[in-house]
Amino acid sequence: MTDPLHSDLLALAQEAARRAGTLLRDGRPADLAVAKTKSSPIDVVTEMDIAAEKLITDLIAGDRPDDGFLGEEGASSEGTSGIRWVVDPLDGTVNYLYGLPTWSVSIAAEQDGERVVAVVAAPMRGETYHAVRGAGAWATGAWEGERRLACRPAPPLDQALVSTGFNYVTEVRTHQAEVAHRLIPLLRDIRRGGSAAVDLCDVAAGRLDGYYERGLHPWDLAAGDLIAREAGARTGGRPGERPGHDLTIAATPGVFEPLQQHLEALGAWHD
Ligand code: IPD
Ligand code: CA
Ligand code: CA
Ligand code: CA
Repeated sequence: MTDPLHSDLLALAQEAARRAGTLLRDGRPADLAVAKTKSSPIDVVTEMDIAAEKLITDLIAGDRPDDGFLGEEGASSEGTSGIRWVVDPLDGTVNYLYGLPTWSVSIAAEQDGERVVAVVAAPMRGETYHAVRGAGAWATGAWEGERRLACRPAPPLDQALVSTGFNYVTEVRTHQAEVAHRLIPLLRDIRRGGSAAVDLCDVAAGRLDGYYERGLHPWDLAAGDLIAREAGARTGGRPGERPGHDLTIAATPGVFEPLQQHLEALGAWHD
C-alpha cells in the first residue's frame, strides 16, 4: 500500500505541474524573448521559466511550509520536514522559446535524500507522467485514463533508438558531439529531443530504448529518473555510479550495459 504521505506529495506535485503547465501553455507571449543567460550565451532563461518556478514553489510552500526546495531558477532552502522538492519549472527552454512542442515541467519530492515521488507534465503532448517509489510509473493523457508505463524489450544495440542531449558549455557540447559521432554507427539512430525529463519518460514509456547525457543537473533528472526506474528501466552513470552530472544513462535492461560500456570506452564523461 502506498504511504499516505507519498500520496499527498503526489497529489500536490500533480496539481503544481498542472497549473505550471497551463501557465506555460496558455501564457506564452507571442513575442517571448530571452530574459537572461546563465552558463553561456546559449543557456537562456525566459520570464516564463521564472514565473513557472514561482507558481510551483508558492503553491507547495503554501501547503507545506517546512519543506526544502532546489529549483533551477534559484529556489533553494533547507527545510525541516525531511522533504525536499527538486523542480525544473520548464525543461526544454530552447524548444519553448522557438514554439517547438517538446518541453515539460518536472517536479520530484525527496524524503531524507531518497526520491519518492515524481511528476513530469508535457502539456503539448497532453500527457503527464508520474511515479511513486515502489508503486510503478504511470501516464495520464487528455484522451485516455491512466496507463502503466513499461520500458521496451531490449533489442540488440545496433537496433536501439537512443536519445541524448547537449550541454550549453562549448567545450562540453563539442566533446558530446564527438561521442555521438562515434556512437551513431553502433545504434539504430540517435535523437535529440530537447527536454531531458521527456527523454527519461520516453524510455519509461517504451518510446526509446535508451538515453544518455553528460552535464545534467539534479532538477533535469530527479523526476525522470524515478519514472524510468519504476517503469523497469535501469538508470546509472559511469560503472558503479548513480546517474548525475558526470553521466546519466537510462535504458531498457539489456541495452543499459552495452551502452554504458561504449560510453565508458568513448570517455563520454569528459569535458
Ligand atoms: C536542458 C534540457 C536539454 C538538455 C540540457 C538541459 P533546460 O534543460 O533538458 O534537453 O540537453 O542539458 O540543460 O535548460 O531547458 O531546463
Ligand atoms: Ca535552463
Ligand atoms: Ca532542464
Ligand atoms: Ca529549466
